[in-house]
Amino acid sequence: MPPDAKTKVLIVDDTPETRVMIQRMVQFDSTVEVVGNARTGKEAIEMAGQLLPDVILMDINMPDLDGISATDTIRKKYPFIQVIILSVQTDPIFMRQAMLAGARDYLFKPPMIDDLTNAIRSAAVVAHEARTAQIQQTSGLQRLGQQQGVEGKIIVVYSPKGGVGTTTVATNVAGAFKTPEAKVIIVDLNLLFGDVAVFLNSQSKNSVVDLATRSDELDPDVLKSVILSHAASGLSVLISPVKPESAETVTGEQISTLLKYLSQTFDYVVVDTSSYMTDAVQAALDVADAIVLVTSQEIASIKSCGQFLRLADASGISRKRILFVMNRFDRRIRVLPERVSEILKQEIKLVIPFEEKTVLDSINHGIPFVIEAKTMTISRSIIQLGDLLRERFNNGSDAGEIPARKI
Ligand SMILES: Nc1ncnc2c1ncn2[C@@H]1O[C@H](COP(=O)(O)OP(=O)(O)OP(=O)(O)O)[C@@H](O)[C@H]1O
Ligand SMILES: [Mg+2]
Repeated sequence: MPPDAKTKVLIVDDTPETRVMIQRMVQFDSTVEVVGNARTGKEAIEMAGQLLPDVILMDINMPDLDGISATDTIRKKYPFIQVIILSVQTDPIFMRQAMLAGARDYLFKPPMIDDLTNAIRSAAVVAHEARTAQIQQTSGLQRLGQQQGVEGKIIVVYSPKGGVGTTTVATNVAGAFKTPEAKVIIVDLNLLFGDVAVFLNSQSKNSVVDLATRSDELDPDVLKSVILSHAASGLSVLISPVKPESAETVTGEQISTLLKYLSQTFDYVVVDTSSYMTDAVQAALDVADAIVLVTSQEIASIKSCGQFLRLADASGISRKRILFVMNRFDRRIRVLPERVSEILKQEIKLVIPFEEKTVLDSINHGIPFVIEAKTMTISRSIIQLGDLLRERFNNGSDAGEIPARKI
C-alpha cells in the first residue's frame, strides 16, 4: 500500500452502541478511516457500492439481510473489498458459512483491540493488491479491445511472382515491428493458399474472411473472437480461411474497411498477399501506407516486378509508397541489385540474404527468425527493413516520402 494511503473501513451492525464501540477501537489506528456505518445487510450492500471501502467489519444477525448473505453479494460484486465478520456466534457452522461467502476473517465480539487492528491491516494489504490488479486488468482489456483512434500504418508485402519469399518477409517484418509498446497484427490476404498459419504455427476455424464479411459491424468484441494471439512473438494474427471456397464471398470494399479499422486499433498492420492480383490484394494495395515489393534474383521475378511497376504507374499507385527489396540474395549470382534498380527505375533499398537454414528452422518452430534468431544476418536485414519503413513514416522524406493514405 502507498505509505500515506488510509484504509477505508465500513462498519455494519444493527446495534448503535456496538457501532460506536467498534468505531472507537478502530480509530486507535491512525492509518484507518471509518468511511461509513450501515445498520442492515441491505444497507451494507448499498453503501459498499457507493463508498467502495477496503474493509468491511460485518455483523451476522441483522434485520432484512444477514451479514453472511450480504458478504456473499458484496464479494461477488466488488471482489477487492475484504470482509471481516464480527459476531457473537461461536458455532463453527457460522464460520464455515462466512468463509464460503468470501469473508477474510472471523473475530468474536467484542474483539481484542490488537486482533482487530491486525485483522484490518492484513485485509487492507489484500484489498489494495486486489484493487490494483483489477485496475490493471481493466486497462489491459481496454488496451486490447477498446483502443481506438490509433493512427496505425498498413504495410502490404507483395510480389507479382510466387515463391520469392513474400510470406517470409511479411511475418518477419511484423516481428521486427513488435515491441512491448507496439501492437502489431499480421493479416493473411492470400485467401486461397495462405501460409501465415503455417509460418506461425497457428490454427483456428475463424479467419480474416469472418471479419471481412462482418466489416459493417466491427467492434472490439468481434475482433477478439477471431484474432489469434501468437504467444512466442506477441503478434496478433488473422489467418486465411481453412476452407478456401469461403474466400469467394469477400469483396475488395470489405477488405479495405477491415484494414482501415484494424489500423485504428493496431500500430502496425502487416499484410501478406498472393502474387495473383485478387480484389482483396488490390484493395490492400490501395489502402497501404507502404508497399514492400519483393523480388528474387530470378529473371522471371524481376520481369514481373517491372510489369507490376508499370501497372502501378497506370493505376495511380505512387512509386513513393513502394519499398523495393531483393530477397534470397546470393552474391555468387551475378544479378546485382544496382543493375535491377537501374533497369526498373525503382531503387532496391535492401537485400535480404539467402539463409536457408535460419528460414527453415524458423518455419519449423513457428516463430519468426527475427525473434528467435535475432543476430543472424538475415534477421538484421529484416530489422533494417523495419527501420526503413519507420523512417519513412516518421519523416516523410524521400528516404522515402509516403503520401497520405488513399481512402
Ligand atoms: N531469404 C531466404 N533465404 C532462404 N530461403 C528463403 C528465403 N526467403 C524465403 N525462403 C524460402 O523460400 C520458400 C518460399 O518462401 P515464402 O513461402 O515466404 O514465399 P511466398 O512468396 O510467400 O510464396 P507463395 O507465392 O507460395 O505465397 C520457402 O521455402 C522459404 O523457406
Ligand atoms: Mg506466401
